[in-house]
Amino acid sequence: MTEKPVINFGLEGIYVDESAISKVDGQNGKLWYRGYTIEDLAANSDFEEVSYLLLYGKLPNKTEFEEFNRKLKDRREVPKEVLEVIRQMARTSHPMDVMRTAASMLAMYDKDLNNKDREATIDKVITLISKLSSIAAATGRFREGRDYIPPDKTLGHSANFLYMLTGKKPSKTEEKLIDLMFILHAEHSTNASTFSVLVTASTLADIYAATTTGIGTLKGPLHGGADEAALKMMQAIGHPDNTEKYIEDALEGKQRIMGFGHRVYKVYDPRAKIVRKYLEDQMNNNPTEEVKKLLQIALRAEKLMIEKLGKNKGIWPNIDFFSGPLYRSLGIEGEMFTPIFVASRMSGWGSHVVEYWNNNKLFRPLEFYNGPLDVPYVPLNKR
Ligand code: CMC
Repeated sequence: MTEKPVINFGLEGIYVDESAISKVDGQNGKLWYRGYTIEDLAANSDFEEVSYLLLYGKLPNKTEFEEFNRKLKDRREVPKEVLEVIRQMARTSHPMDVMRTAASMLAMYDKDLNNKDREATIDKVITLISKLSSIAAATGRFREGRDYIPPDKTLGHSANFLYMLTGKKPSKTEEKLIDLMFILHAEHSTNASTFSVLVTASTLADIYAATTTGIGTLKGPLHGGADEAALKMMQAIGHPDNTEKYIEDALEGKQRIMGFGHRVYKVYDPRAKIVRKYLEDQMNNNPTEEVKKLLQIALRAEKLMIEKLGKNKGIWPNIDFFSGPLYRSLGIEGEMFTPIFVASRMSGWGSHVVEYWNNNKLFRPLEFYNGPLDVPYVPLNKR
């Protein structure tokens, strides 16, 4: 009998590779993209520049930035067959299912699908970053039976997304808020979806196959889907005065409170701190009654959760907790939160594939077999 090895369930605590893309310091609540703190990037950069930084490993100079931006702008249109499928699916399917299908369809248009050279891969990732945002916006429009709005080249990446989704050119504040969410969601080391992207990429399947895998993985409520689930919880709480009882009952019933806890962060997620700060600033900006109520619920839930689970169990708010009130302040519905996560995370997924293909090795872990062996076969008519 083989001795049972140590099993790291859920690959907890296992290093699968080296990477120079981002560092998550879970004990001190810090995050860096290519060495730059998330606070610095959130305050001073924009999503296009952050995407360049993640992909190329350095901040662009003016010419490089203009060229990168031009590519992003030129590729925003969604092919008409893809738009048609989005239109058909959007009324009945969850937007994440639509995103997954549309991302997969994009492979059809790549005449150089299997080219895995670094420059070719970066180019494909730029196409995906550009189009996934438009696909998300189109999905949001068609869900509500509204028309597709073509991209507007006078707008930056995230502002254009918001315009294509809502039909309204965003104000400076709205533009900053949506761009902030794109920056904060762009990358987070070997989280579940990035790992699944890498597993698919490690088989030398193409970037669209890897992206489709990533979207499937991000959908789950333990990962990207937690933002939508957290909003649903706040909506179910309904009134700020119901918050404590709702949370107490949920914990009593062994339910998880969405938007709390993290495999790596055992302190406050630095991204959640940033979202919380901007959201509090929004409160001085004449918010709707709905947003005011959501924020009150969120703050009361946060206080109680920190008292109950923060200090003693290391379960603190993560990025998905305050996203709901912030997105609602931009008029975005809950089902669209995770598609925005996809559109942003494409930069991180793509950067990891570029890095991994530099020194590719098939992922193939082991599992310890604990079933019987040499079982005699019994024919069907004798069973
Ligand atoms: N609410 C209540 N209890 C929790 C929570 C939570 N949100 N998260 C963890 N716990 C408890 C869990 O019940 C377990 O308790 P016990 O030891 O008594 O059985 C303990 O904490 C450890 O949980 P775990 O699931 O073994 O730990 P993990 O490292 O695998 O969990 C997690 C990470 C994100 C899956 C988990 O915290 C969770 O389910 N959170 C809610 C979903 C969520 O917000 N996900 C978004 C994560 S951040 C953005 C992203 O990556 O997408």
